Amino acid sequence: MTRRACVIGWPVEHSRSPVIHRYWLNEYGIDGAYEKEAVKPANLGRFLEELSGHGYVGANVTLPHKEAALGAAGAADAAALAIGAANTLWLDEKGALHASNTDAYGFVTNLDAEAPQWNEGVGLAMVLGAGGAARAILYGLLAAGVPRILLANRTKAKAEALARVFGPQIEVIDWDERAAKLSACGLLINSTSLGMTGQPPLDIDISALPGSAIVADIVYAPLLTPLLVEAAKRGNAVVDGLGMLLHQAVPGFERWFGVRPHVTPALRAHVVATL
Ligand code: ATR
Repeated sequence: MTRRACVIGWPVEHSRSPVIHRYWLNEYGIDGAYEKEAVKPANLGRFLEELSGHGYVGANVTLPHKEAALGAAGAADAAALAIGAANTLWLDEKGALHASNTDAYGFVTNLDAEAPQWNEGVGLAMVLGAGGAARAILYGLLAAGVPRILLANRTKAKAEALARVFGPQIEVIDWDERAAKLSACGLLINSTSLGMTGQPPLDIDISALPGSAIVADIVYAPLLTPLLVEAAKRGNAVVDGLGMLLHQAVPGFERWFGVRPHVTPALRAHVVATL
C-alpha cells in the first residue's frame, strides 16, 4: 500500500517540503506520496485526530501550527519539548501521535556537513533573533556543546524569555551591541527574517568578527544573503540556510518511509531550481 505523508500549514503553498520528499521518494523508488494540506488553525486538532483517516502515516507541520501540534501529540521527544514546538509527526502502530522537532538536528547536522571543524574552536557564538528558529538553534548549539552564546533581538524581552528557558549559558545583549560584541565570537548566526527577498538586509557591521569565525544564516532565499556575501568577502566561512531545511527533513522521511535519505548536491540543486 502507498504510504502517504504531508506538510500541514496555513498557508502551505510556499512550503518546499514536497519538493524535498518527492525527490527522495523518486530517488529511492519508494511507493509513497507527499502532499500539501492547508489546514486552518481552528481545524488543526480535528485534522490531527483524523490523520490516519486522511490516509497519512505522518506529517510535517509548519507555521502557524508548530506549537499546537506539540500540544496535540500524545508523546514528544526531548527536542520538541525543549523547543516547545513540533515540526515532524508520526503515528505508531497503535495509532498514537508522536511529535518531534528536527530543526535543531537540521541546523547542527548542516554545520557539521558544511564546516566540519565548527565545534572545535567555538568558545562563544552569537545568535541574532529570538523567534521559533532561534529557540531551535539555541537548543541545538547547547546540545552540541557550545559553552556560551550571546543572544541579541530587536525586542529584548523575547531574548530574555529564551535565556530563562535555556539558562546561564545564554547571555542577552542589546540589539545595538551586536556589532561591538563580535570580536570574541567564533560563530555568528542570523535567525531573523532579515536578508530574505523582500525584507531589508540585516544591518550589522561585521568588521570586528575574527577571520576564523563561521557565519551562518537561516534565510535561504536568496541563498547568499547580504550578510553571507559580506562575510565571504572578508574570508569568513559561510553556511547558507538551505542545508538546514534539507537536513531537518531527513528524520521524518526515514520514520515514514523506512529509508534514511541522503542530502546530496543533486538534491540541493533540485531545490535551488524551485527558489
Ligand atoms: P521564526 O519562527 O521563523 O523564528 P518569528 O518568530 O516571526 O519567526 O521571529 C522573527 C525574528 O526576526 C524575530 O527575532 C524578530 O525580532 P522581534 O522579536 O523584535 O520581532 C526578527 N525580525 C523581524 N524583522 C525584523 C527587523 N526589521 N529588525 C530586527 N529584527 C527583526
